[in-house]
Amino acid sequence: MNVLSAYSIKGGVGKTALAVNLAYALRERGQRTLLLDLDPQGAASFYFRVDCAEKFRMRNAHSMAAGFRRNVRESDFPGLDIIPSNLAYRNFDLVLEGMAKRRKQLRAMLEEFKPDYDVILMDCPPNITLLSENVFRASDIILVPVIPTILSQRTLAQLIDFFRDEELPGKRLRPFFSMVQKRNKMHREMMNALPELHPGFLKTAIPFSADVEKMGLHRKPLLAYSSACEAARAYRALCNEILAPLGPRS
Ligand SMILES: Nc1ncnc2c1ncn2[C@@H]1O[C@H](COP(=O)(O)OP(=O)(O)O)[C@@H](O)[C@H]1O
Ligand SMILES: [Mg+2]
Repeated sequence: MNVLSAYSIKGGVGKTALAVNLAYALRERGQRTLLLDLDPQGAASFYFRVDCAEKFRMRNAHSMAAGFRRNVRESDFPGLDIIPSNLAYRNFDLVLEGMAKRRKQLRAMLEEFKPDYDVILMDCPPNITLLSENVFRASDIILVPVIPTILSQRTLAQLIDFFRDEELPGKRLRPFFSMVQKRNKMHREMMNALPELHPGFLKTAIPFSADVEKMGLHRKPLLAYSSACEAARAYRALCNEILAPLGPRS
């Protein structure tokens, strides 16, 4: 089982759009996929028309894993399940703070799902918190959408520094360009300069597209209602780029 996450310190960069469409693309590729919506705002759950998770007590890793397990929902697409968001997730940091091995709890919880899924994909809230540190330690690949602007350069550099300072494996970070506007000169310049920040930059870039914004109207992944548009093809290419080096399922 491979654990992926859609993460950025910044909000509004395309994490949820990635998580929703990548989950769909993975399932198209025959990967049994579990999407775990860790953002209390619940946008990924909304796009998949899945209600908020039932509240559950988050006392320790065991009760959290049991709560997650009870809240697994089937999506409209066979082979893709969702653990929807839960307002209780806003207390994640508090709960994790009280636990032993507080940075490694999420990894332990996800172990439970190993027999049932090929991929777990987490949609993360923006920020850098104890939950984020759990995400970093639980993920094999951390996908970081980067809009090609100066501010994004800054936040990506902060994340890379954090990994170095905390001795986390930086090669797990896989930034990629998100919401790219090729006619925008600054975007083009940043796309030349930014990959120097990190050797793991993915080749695939997701274009800015009004089709993506319509996910809120359709309440399904872009790939399900506009399968051949440029952005949908980009999400599939990104999926292929990620899957290529992953080993066989275990
Ligand atoms: N490639 C894209 N092109 C155009 N709009 C996009 C694209 N990706 C995301 N959006 C829109 O930008 C907003 C923020 O995207 P979202 O995926 O929710 O970001 P995050 O999860 O990082 O906060 C949403 O309104 C979404 O529809
Ligand atoms: Mg989001």
